[in-house]
Amino acid sequence: MSRIRSEEFRSKVMGAEQAAAFIKNGMNVGFSGFTGSGYPKAVPVALAAQIRQEHQEGRPFKIGVFTGASTAPELDGALAEADGQGFRMPYQSDPVLRNKINEGYTDYCDIHLGLSGPMTAAGFLGKLDMAVIEVTAITPEGELIPSSSMGNNLLWLETAEKIILEVNHWQSMDLYGMHDVYYQPALPPHRVPIPITKAGDRIGQHTLRVDPAKVVAVVETDSADRNSPFKPLDDQSKLIAGHLLDFLEGEIKAGRVPAGLLPLQSGVGNIANAVLAGLLDGPFDQITSYTEVIQDGMVDLLDAGKMTVASATAFSLSPEYAEKLNNDAANYAKKIILRPQDVSNNPEVIRRLGVIACNGLIEADIYGNVNSTHIMGSKMQNGLGGSGDFTRNSFISSFVTPSVAKGGDISCIVPMVSHVDHTEHDVQVIITEQGLADLRGLAPRKRARAIIDKCAHPDFKPALEEYFERAQRVANSQHTPHDLRESLGWHVRFLETGSMKA
Ligand code: COA
Repeated sequence: MSRIRSEEFRSKVMGAEQAAAFIKNGMNVGFSGFTGSGYPKAVPVALAAQIRQEHQEGRPFKIGVFTGASTAPELDGALAEADGQGFRMPYQSDPVLRNKINEGYTDYCDIHLGLSGPMTAAGFLGKLDMAVIEVTAITPEGELIPSSSMGNNLLWLETAEKIILEVNHWQSMDLYGMHDVYYQPALPPHRVPIPITKAGDRIGQHTLRVDPAKVVAVVETDSADRNSPFKPLDDQSKLIAGHLLDFLEGEIKAGRVPAGLLPLQSGVGNIANAVLAGLLDGPFDQITSYTEVIQDGMVDLLDAGKMTVASATAFSLSPEYAEKLNNDAANYAKKIILRPQDVSNNPEVIRRLGVIACNGLIEADIYGNVNSTHIMGSKMQNGLGGSGDFTRNSFISSFVTPSVAKGGDISCIVPMVSHVDHTEHDVQVIITEQGLADLRGLAPRKRARAIIDKCAHPDFKPALEEYFERAQRVANSQHTPHDLRESLGWHVRFLETGSMKA
């Protein structure tokens, strides 16, 4: 049966090249896609070829690329390789694009994921000329069954002047029912409370609305999402996960957190997967999540009955788990909810639910300020993602990291961070394989002692202690002691010698 069940939309079916030709130099384009799922697979590649052709003929061609979060080589990679991205927001992790950003070719605006859609809808970032959105199917009534990510799709469809739809036959038709498409007034003063009081609440409809008059093309594809293979868990990640799980057990014993925990938010990557694997073996039951992405570990928790519901905005699965999900989507739709990212990452809801947040970092300083984005203060790695949405508003905010990077030449605990994404006011717990620093209620000097004692690697601990002692003398007992001549000296030393070690 055709997945395009509306005659009006069927009449607009065309090839990707023809559809891509609607996108012109200088346009801002809102693409679907969130951490490698639900991104358009054909139009961006065709557009990249057209951009290359224009450049060969001596004409300029760059667009503004707006997405949900990171995408895939067929979107970010292809457009960056063609020198087609003049502007990019909000989160990315593509190596080619990263270079273009750091060279200064692509203007990158690193916005909180939960704010990226509403800020665009408000017009803060200029006009959105086009939206290119992957969907699973189009209903006879002309509504859209979303695919494997919700992201900013609702707001792109509402805000863009014109729309190209990609109908992907690879996506399971049984995804129908998994999405919670919530229409709310996007802008003040019309906003109203979002009526979610439990992670599993459904408050919207299953399909996305679209104004058919805005749809200029419908393209059919049959391509899998990009899914990174699952890395085997390493010992370091297991140690870090162990510290966090012990801490959570302690919170339950102290009566601060219920036995089934509070809804969990977890970043992506090896450590996050280790935490999820630890939960599988741990004493926690009736777990829920209110997070951004569904990872392999969450599917295991759902399968084992340990997790009752997982609320997110997208999937970030290995190929094996993507297939498993696709084969049994109708069943998973009872336990998984995909929401628009301005709802999954909404501060009001995160605060109300009391989310327990856990994210990765690049470096933290002795007072608990966190850098999630910049290498040596100036080179963009990926971006802030949703870490700010969750850290600032969670009940317990935690960060996880190995204590050293680059084979031990870099300490991830430094005297002063070289870039700040999360301030000491928002960071409650820092965890490395060495241990866990609980910073709640501690004044800066006590925070420094806790972080150095519990989190620093033995190779760097004496130098951190020395720095802290010296800073207290230099600053003559000020509230947050620093020796400003030295505070970024470790980074300078690394840049000059290849190691932070003296
Ligand atoms: N100084 C310099 N480089 C560092 C470093 C430091 N202190 N810490 C890590 N790195 C390097 C690593 O060596 C690695 O480099 P490589 O790519 O050349 O191998 C790179 O940074 C990534 O580090 P890795 O250990 O692989 O980390 P990760 O996959 O756990 O990711 C972040 C860590 C911080 C990059 C990642 O969590 C992130 O992008 N966070 C921001 C967004 C976010 O939190 N999203 C979730 C919100 S819902």
